[in-house]
Amino acid sequence: MRSAHPMFGSHYKLRCLHRLAALLFAAAALHGCNGGKPADPQNSDWEWLGNSAEMQHHASLSTINVDNVDDLELAWWVEMPNVDGLVGNPLIKDGVIFQGGPSGTIFANDVKSGKLLWSYEDTADFSTASLSGYWGRRMNRGVALSEGKVIITTGDCRLVAVDQKTGKKIWEAQSCDSTQMYGISAAPRVGAGLVFTGNACMDSGTTRGFVDALDVKTGKRRWRFYTVPGDPAKKQDSPLYDMAAKTWGTGWYEKSHGCGSPWDAMTYDPKLNLLYIGVGGPSPFDPSKRAPDAGDELFTNSIVAVDASTGAYKWHFKQTPNDGWNYDASVGIMIADLPIDGQNRRTVISVPKSGFAYVLDARTGRFISGSAYTQANWAKGLDAKGRPIPDPDGQYWLRPGQANIVVPSPAGSHGWEALAYDPENHLVYIPNMVMPTKIETDPAALVGGLLMDFYYGSSGDPKWKSYGEIVAWDAVANKVAWRTRTDLPINGGLMHTSGGLVFQGMADGRLVAYNAKTGQELWSRQTGGAMRAAPSTVMVDGKQYLIVPTGNGAAAATGSYFSKYNSTLQSRTPPRLLAFRIGGTATYPPLAKVEPVGRPSASRQDAKLARKGKVVFESYGCVDCHGMNADAVGGRIPSLIRMPPSDLAHVKAVVQEGAMSKNGGGMPQFKDLTDEEARGLYAYLVNEAWDAHEKKGAFKP
Ligand code: HEC
Repeated sequence: MRSAHPMFGSHYKLRCLHRLAALLFAAAALHGCNGGKPADPQNSDWEWLGNSAEMQHHASLSTINVDNVDDLELAWWVEMPNVDGLVGNPLIKDGVIFQGGPSGTIFANDVKSGKLLWSYEDTADFSTASLSGYWGRRMNRGVALSEGKVIITTGDCRLVAVDQKTGKKIWEAQSCDSTQMYGISAAPRVGAGLVFTGNACMDSGTTRGFVDALDVKTGKRRWRFYTVPGDPAKKQDSPLYDMAAKTWGTGWYEKSHGCGSPWDAMTYDPKLNLLYIGVGGPSPFDPSKRAPDAGDELFTNSIVAVDASTGAYKWHFKQTPNDGWNYDASVGIMIADLPIDGQNRRTVISVPKSGFAYVLDARTGRFISGSAYTQANWAKGLDAKGRPIPDPDGQYWLRPGQANIVVPSPAGSHGWEALAYDPENHLVYIPNMVMPTKIETDPAALVGGLLMDFYYGSSGDPKWKSYGEIVAWDAVANKVAWRTRTDLPINGGLMHTSGGLVFQGMADGRLVAYNAKTGQELWSRQTGGAMRAAPSTVMVDGKQYLIVPTGNGAAAATGSYFSKYNSTLQSRTPPRLLAFRIGGTATYPPLAKVEPVGRPSASRQDAKLARKGKVVFESYGCVDCHGMNADAVGGRIPSLIRMPPSDLAHVKAVVQEGAMSKNGGGMPQFKDLTDEEARGLYAYLVNEAWDAHEKKGAFKP
């Protein structure tokens, strides 16, 4: 591979010869043959989620580099005692890997051998949780390390801090209320002696988003910042929310309680002591169902800066007014010092779900530059202040009853998966998901009156194709430098190293290294499991290790909704942790064996009834856990095409009456389900099982 790129390779080698010559004259002995950079330390940590507070997912290590990446091999792999898959980014300190797992589980493994040193298992009671709580429980996107503690969030809205050495619990604290539509989906963030956490409302609009800051030492709450105003019939918490409430339009509260989930990105700026919060969209997400005279609906789809120590509001920047696509600002916020107009400017780089990337002044929130880095048919571009120029193409609510294609999809042009950054060349690396989505307004759809087909891009329409990319976006030049392409759109987060490499774990199970300057693929290995986490890298006793979790790539991330886009059947393996280093000698783990779908015991059901059942399955949120076509990715969630309900009574008992909701397995009760809906569900599940058995119908990976 590398020989196809002689320029870069030989350039490196020349520099190495140079170094050898220099060695004769002593002095540079410590600098090694690594392209002129200082030698890597013997030992290093990956202590912050993004390796530093700035969330750049960059390591200034170059022991593994473009010249020797061919020799990067597996050092060890271990299976992890957790059924639901691992998706969170691993943190590493003093030779120990700290990995979060679903249901508030923490694992500590030795970085050199993979040996499990201790684990912490949370015991939450979910019997009273809302759907959001149930859903959050399957989710874990990582832990935080601070002051000798490992901090994790649980699905039922608590934070737990345990001792880094022993795994013993030190404190726990309640943040949101999981009996309401609240769950926590993100890794906690830390800074200024505090732990920051947000929450998710599952786009329901019944709850009010907020960020809590807790004392790292005690878990005591120091401040709370609400992302949207409260009930306008009551006094607002402060003049800030009087101002914000005015931007929601007439009668907004009857139609929408706001939502504004800060469900992932919050980035702490140690230089300015600010916390940049990314706020999610308003709900319901069809704007024609919200106030007709709505303004900016603050602070949804905005970056908000608050004083990290007090939570006091500093500035905000609105990205997507009149949001109809769920284009949250809650993902991808990093800090970078950039050379702009001859000055060194502290900036916030925000890459929301909308397909645009923004550079903002970190002190004031003022727009510096920004542009679309991918297809985006909701806006034609940005004006001088960074406000979008609307494109009616994407405004599906203008054409009720018609099929409309929107891109990015409401899942976003990228999700929570890590962005990476090359501080030398100012390149921001974005794991882009192109998933053209068909949206139809349909009053019969239970949630929000919308029907969405996220898989439209694989339906054969030559105009709209789904695929995945890494986009390298130059934050100074405000333009795309290069892009890669893969078939499956939802892949893992990214990491950049000073060895000139960008790493990404793929939905198909490959871990890939790209040339950071050109995007050329230099190296890949089949790890045997789908990936959503970004790899982390550290030095241990003079060797550089790369650590990545794999397996059931979706089970613990967004449920199974997108399972056909973020894993293959073969990559739905048990959760594993893998370590790579130059000259590793371990044998690679196997891919999953896939049994054909068996013959259902019940006969095919009425197609019309099944069609109704499909709508129920998707609008009640069954699809979020059990997956598209009822084909879950695994873990504790059964694939219903592989075990379709034996009869209607079973559906009623499990779903309506909640026969399984008390056993701790995670199946919620749906009390409001009508008998007719239950009949539809039964017909749908049986027919899906027949389709899978006969290999008919829907898109199969
Ligand atoms: C929050 C995730 C989640 C949601 C939402 C969800 N389920 Fe489940 N479901 C589960 C889990 C987990 C189990 C296995 C529970 C256990 O083993 O105790 C399960 C079990 C089941 C079973 C029993 C399978 C068997 O025979 O053992 C059926 C049927 C089922 N779900 C149907 C549905 C339907 C229909 C919906 C929507 C109305 C739904 N589920 C929504 C997680 C979910």
